[in-house]
Amino acid sequence: MRVLTGIQPSGRLHLGNYLGAIRQSVKLQEKADDCFYFIADYHALTTVSDPALLREAIHGVALDFLAAGLDPEKVVFFRQSDVPLVQELAWLLSIVMPMSRLELAHSYKDKLAHGKEATHGLFAYPVLMAADILLYRSDLVPVGKDQKQHLEITRDLAVKFNLKFGEVFKLPEGFIPEDVATVPGTDGQKMSKSYGNTIPLSGTDKEIKKAIMGIVTDSAPVEAPKDPETNTIYKIYRLLASPEEAELMADRFRAGGYGYGDAKKELLRAYHALLDPFRERRAALEAHPDDVRDILASGAAKARVEAEKTLHAARRAVGLE
Ligand code: ADP
Ligand code: TRP
Repeated sequence: MRVLTGIQPSGRLHLGNYLGAIRQSVKLQEKADDCFYFIADYHALTTVSDPALLREAIHGVALDFLAAGLDPEKVVFFRQSDVPLVQELAWLLSIVMPMSRLELAHSYKDKLAHGKEATHGLFAYPVLMAADILLYRSDLVPVGKDQKQHLEITRDLAVKFNLKFGEVFKLPEGFIPEDVATVPGTDGQKMSKSYGNTIPLSGTDKEIKKAIMGIVTDSAPVEAPKDPETNTIYKIYRLLASPEEAELMADRFRAGGYGYGDAKKELLRAYHALLDPFRERRAALEAHPDDVRDILASGAAKARVEAEKTLHAARRAVGLE
């Protein structure tokens, strides 16, 4: 079984990305026969227009994955744009991609609703994502819920192409883990870089403290009993702490006499207990940027070998070879 996933370098990653995506992907390296994980920099270009920021984000995502325990011996870890063959496959897929389907894609409509310009890159985003998945003959693609439709488009494209030109592509399965909770942000909505409500993964101690102490709460006095289930501090805490610790905080809230300030301090402690080892590894890697570059280059070389095989088959099928 081959597992493939991509993550966009569109800014600094946050706690939601770590708990919701990176940690799961890194765990899967133990179960899969092989893994292809990549930094989706071509995709990020649809939202990032500052070149310096993009470069920084690409390096940052590489550090995040490696610090989270990605093992380059088990995972082919690379940058999407280091294997530009994916663009040729995207073109071959676009030949069978119905416009009407792309016009209905949620993520495209969503971005337009948020005032983004309707560019061709944004529109064709799902076709490039299908090319990522099909090029590397993936079996299983772990993604967040918001990517479900992109996986359906990928499968439909593979079926359509295979029917028209012969069996070239393997049909991938999506893997959307149900047990991965949505991490709330400091304002109680889903944590997302677009909402400015994140707790950073790689920030300084000061930045982390500021984010956690800034979690929005109601004005209930310290003495009042409080419902942990409606409380953002507790909802984040239980994702970081042990079940026993989480139960203890819930009991304290219910009993009353436990203030939000104390709960935030406890959350900060749990954050550091879980993430300091990660942050130390990240800092160590940061001191050796050449090592990170070498890992990505060697991943790209392996990815290219796979990419060439599939692309040959696709080119032959359509009559380019
Ligand atoms: P953002 O919402 O900050 O732009 P992305 O959409 O780039 O994050 O998400 C990258 C990955 O991180 C996806 O797999 C997504 O499901 C996961 N992710 C993002 N935010 C959260 C969250 N708040 N809780 C759980 N997982 C998340
Ligand atoms: N669109 C995905 C996201 O925003 C990133 C991505 C690009 C991806 N290509 C992929 C994910 C291929 C899985 C497989 O999260």
